[in-house]
Amino acid sequence: MEAAAAARGAADLYPVDILEDDPEGHREAALAYYASLRAGVRPSAEVFSLPTGEQVKLEASSVCFCTVHRDEPQQKILVLVNPQDTKTVVAVYIKESWWTTEDVLRTSDPAREGLMKVQSFGERIVLFILNVVIFGRLERNLDDDAMFFLPHSVKEQAKILWRDGAAVGFYTTKMKGSLCGSGTGACYLLPVFDTVFVRRRCRRQGLGMAMLRDFCEAFRDEEALGLSCPVSPAMYQVCRKFLLAWPEERGRLWEVEPPGAWGQRGNIWLKVQLQRSSLPDWSKRKNTTDWQGTCRRLRWRNNNLLRLRTSGLGVNERACGLCAAGWDPV
Ligand SMILES: CC(C)(COP(=O)(O)OP(=O)(O)OC[C@H]1O[C@@H](n2cnc3c(N)ncnc32)[C@H](O)[C@@H]1OP(=O)(O)O)[C@@H](O)C(=O)NCCC(=O)NCCS
Repeated sequence: MEAAAAARGAADLYPVDILEDDPEGHREAALAYYASLRAGVRPSAEVFSLPTGEQVKLEASSVCFCTVHRDEPQQKILVLVNPQDTKTVVAVYIKESWWTTEDVLRTSDPAREGLMKVQSFGERIVLFILNVVIFGRLERNLDDDAMFFLPHSVKEQAKILWRDGAAVGFYTTKMKGSLCGSGTGACYLLPVFDTVFVRRRCRRQGLGMAMLRDFCEAFRDEEALGLSCPVSPAMYQVCRKFLLAWPEERGRLWEVEPPGAWGQRGNIWLKVQLQRSSLPDWSKRKNTTDWQGTCRRLRWRNNNLLRLRTSGLGVNERACGLCAAGWDPV
């Protein structure tokens, strides 16, 4: 039996358009389906067809649960992994049907266009897929983008960028006054542009700049705004173009470590100028020693992450290394 899309009913409706805001109900349905797979009570020939034509057998060994948020273990989705590469998610089980990751990112609602605040559970799944599956596994160049973002917090302030019926990017914000992490009393001293991603096929079309602009506009009355440290080489270039176009923002944008006290801030425009004078051909450099140094520093930070967590200090969402999120065995 062909399982994909069988139960969808109305044409061209995608998960984000039809999923109720009921994470608990969703989890229970996924658990029940998983139990039926394990018990072997489903038709033995059930398969899911990938867009490549390849067929993946639907069996307990090819699915697993992922936690959508790093701080809410109960909110899980059931995913199907590629048998040839078990860290790559190919489909998600939603509303009694399997959907390709690309379909999870689609919408048939014409009102979903531009930057829209993440509010519903369905939108949180879209954010997770964009962040962990698309950026974390598929569209990250290990040579020059050694950065990935941890799964977001359930309380994360996020906006998804919708374009022509699909989610193509996102950015998240740490609000001034919000806690820097669980188990810490430290709060952000300024609003911080924390994680940002644009799908590869949509890059160099001004979308990164549009998101930075949206962030700056949202906090018109703030004297200082942060970007979480470390800022990637591409993002520095975005900042440069942005600050050339809007010179009035040059004094407001700071690269910050949480919580963003004065000693934890570096002015971005100044950094851009310094980089340009010390790295004459910055845009063509890959694996620059500066960036590798930054990643090493961050790796040091990640190695100390557990210690930081237990000692009550917070960290932002950035990380370096090979994999952001582990798929949980059930
Ligand atoms: C960083 C990122 C969000 C930029 O998104 P984007 O939509 O491509 O950015 P824009 O199109 O708005 O770029 C604006 C300008 O920045 C510069 N720029 C952007 N990416 C660049 C790159 N890789 N190399 C050199 N310059 C770049 C260019 O001057 C560009 O203008 P141009 O295309 O007219 O020359 C995107 O590359 C991305 O998602 N990267 C992976 C995740 C990441 O690094 N996030 C940032 C964490 S700090």
